[in-house]
Amino acid sequence: MTSVLFDKVAFIGLGLIGSSLARVIRAKKLARQIVASTRSVKTLQDAEALGLIDAGYTDAIDAVKAADLVVLALPVRATEHVLKMIQPYLSPNTILTDVGSTKANVVEAAKAVFGELPEGFVPGHPIAGGENTGVHAGKVDLFAQHKVILTPLETSAPWAVEKLTQLWQAADAEVICMDVQKHDEVLAHTSHLPHLMAFNLVEQLATREDNLDIFRYAAGGFRDFSRIAASDPQMWHDIFFSNKKAILNAVDGFETQLKAIRHLIEEDDSQALMGLLEHAQAARQHFNHMLAKKTVMEKELVTQKFTILPKEHQFKGTFSIPGDKSVSHRSIMFGAIAEGTTHVTGFLEGEDALATLQSFKDMGVKIEGPENGNVTIHGVGMSGLKVPEKALYMGNSGTSMRLLSGMLAAQQFDTVMTGDASLSKRPMERIAKPLRLMGAQIQTTGEKGTPPVSITGKQVLKGIQYELPMASAQVKSGILLAGLWAEGETSVTEPEPTRDHTERMLRAFGYEVKTEGNKISLVGGGKLVGTNIQVPSDISSAAFFMVGAAICKDSDVTLEAVGINPTRTGVIEILKQMGGDITVQNERIAGGEPIADIRIRGTQTLKGIHIPEDQVPLAIDEFPALFVAASCAEGRTVLTGAAELRVKESDRIQVMADGLQAMGIECEPTADGIVIEGKGKAGHWDAIFTGADIQSHHDHRIAMSFSIAGLRASEAITIHGTETVATSFPTFTQLTNEAGFSIQTID
Ligand code: S3P
Repeated sequence: MTSVLFDKVAFIGLGLIGSSLARVIRAKKLARQIVASTRSVKTLQDAEALGLIDAGYTDAIDAVKAADLVVLALPVRATEHVLKMIQPYLSPNTILTDVGSTKANVVEAAKAVFGELPEGFVPGHPIAGGENTGVHAGKVDLFAQHKVILTPLETSAPWAVEKLTQLWQAADAEVICMDVQKHDEVLAHTSHLPHLMAFNLVEQLATREDNLDIFRYAAGGFRDFSRIAASDPQMWHDIFFSNKKAILNAVDGFETQLKAIRHLIEEDDSQALMGLLEHAQAARQHFNHMLAKKTVMEKELVTQKFTILPKEHQFKGTFSIPGDKSVSHRSIMFGAIAEGTTHVTGFLEGEDALATLQSFKDMGVKIEGPENGNVTIHGVGMSGLKVPEKALYMGNSGTSMRLLSGMLAAQQFDTVMTGDASLSKRPMERIAKPLRLMGAQIQTTGEKGTPPVSITGKQVLKGIQYELPMASAQVKSGILLAGLWAEGETSVTEPEPTRDHTERMLRAFGYEVKTEGNKISLVGGGKLVGTNIQVPSDISSAAFFMVGAAICKDSDVTLEAVGINPTRTGVIEILKQMGGDITVQNERIAGGEPIADIRIRGTQTLKGIHIPEDQVPLAIDEFPALFVAASCAEGRTVLTGAAELRVKESDRIQVMADGLQAMGIECEPTADGIVIEGKGKAGHWDAIFTGADIQSHHDHRIAMSFSIAGLRASEAITIHGTETVATSFPTFTQLTNEAGFSIQTID
């Protein structure tokens, strides 16, 4: 929640931009009072009726008195006139800004009025708009995920820039500071020239005698190109004069280019014309991601379901669970940027890790395999990655997107990452924010700080000391990975220890990483050396078998060579506390990670517990399965401190609660956890769950957890959208069926 930034904000002018900003200030309670002045009484009345302003004046002087923020939201050409009027009434502490599309003329106008510019004067330009104008056209989210350019002057005070930055950030805009001249040049080419051309083309066609036919038969191309010619003529008239010099330059450039293409056509120079068109097309494609608002989301379809019919299921055997997802991702990432070759065994051939693998292939890394879990990566070194031809597709994998954000922020090329329907809803600002502090240019171009993630390369990153606001190994890792290329030291302090595979594996690749308590640090500029990585079995996948065995009478399951990294073993601890019969045997180290064989038997009914909060990050992915265990336990299980579960592949608290309730379990989701009334009774092994139709919400662990519940169900359970199981545990149904528990898969 943003705090109150201003006492009194005065808008001079209240059109689309002014009224949208007023809406933000009102909605977020950023000012105690909002007033406005415009010449139109009707606008002021409407603004009051809309609740946007507390008072309206036709005289700007009345509005600005005692205001600590004055926003000029009027045509740029009126700036000097208005400034002259209000100048005597501004206090030295007043922040004065504007929202005009040109900046040099605004600064000139201010100089003409003030002579010496006030400290609080910081020109600005939100790059947002719409064809509709007026106070009614304003929208509270007009600036969200848009850029706002501030052009601080030598005279501008840092406190004023800071406050304005806070204001625009509260509008969910990305604030960029730029030199006045640079701003005007950039805008002349990217905005003013295209508008001028659109007006001009429409005029050219409209003045022809056959104009009716032309417009009648015009196709999409004309519609797209001429759309902006429907904008406000007065405004564009003003802008063309206000930014005269830069626009004339841009028009000259256009004329030269136009003559060149005309000449090629006239001379029938097919080869050169083709060359020009191809070059332009390639450039448009290259920058496409920066222009695109949204990229297509793939894999939105639900294509598979599981059905588990009620019967006496068995759950017995010795199993080799597929490789650890977290470790598999990292083996590819680190192998790719290492010098020399890396051999990986036990690699998880699931869709998530394969998305990481494909991304590095797309960036020019030669990777052989996977074949039976074997992968060979021919590392390209710290500066060997190549620009990918298209957006990198991360599928369902948050780990790929967040860790790669850190790595890609440091590259010499631009990239975009997209994901499936689930990933497209997951928060990416948690990694984008710290990376921006390091100097990265990264945008979350989805609607709510969500994917696609768009990264502009060629930035010089600086190390930061970052206090992680949430216990997230992905965010920690993303920052540390950016730190490999950053100047100086990068450190991350976590609120609680999270999985430390990044730290361990970087060391295995010969990179020094320090861990002091909860603080992890490294110094940028080093290199990684290719090595051999043995991926242990994934304890998160093993968890479904552990829970299955713990809730099934006479079960006896041994899971071989499972990773038991202490940052991942919460599920064992929690099940033990619930009375689960688990033994961890044959502990050893493989590839820098501790592993063991885990044996679980169904010998007694579990009991409900209050899950210790310090175990939460250590079992974060295992809670959906643990909720099934809790439902079969005797007594109440309470989970707190687990709000992170709400931003996993699905909102795992809500989705699990919905599913469990549909299966007859009494449970109550809370903001950061859940309370589950277990239906188990000591010594009884009969059915706990009723039949149900469950939606897995594109979440593999939801699908697998409800499948396991089938071991204790009285009727058929159908789980929709189980295709995502392949992201982390492609052999899930095969292994459960081998254990004697039959799941039918319907594609
Ligand atoms: C992971 C970290 C965790 C975990 C995810 C894998 C990783 O995510 O849930 O499945 O490999 O670093 P958070 O960092 O969001 O907690």
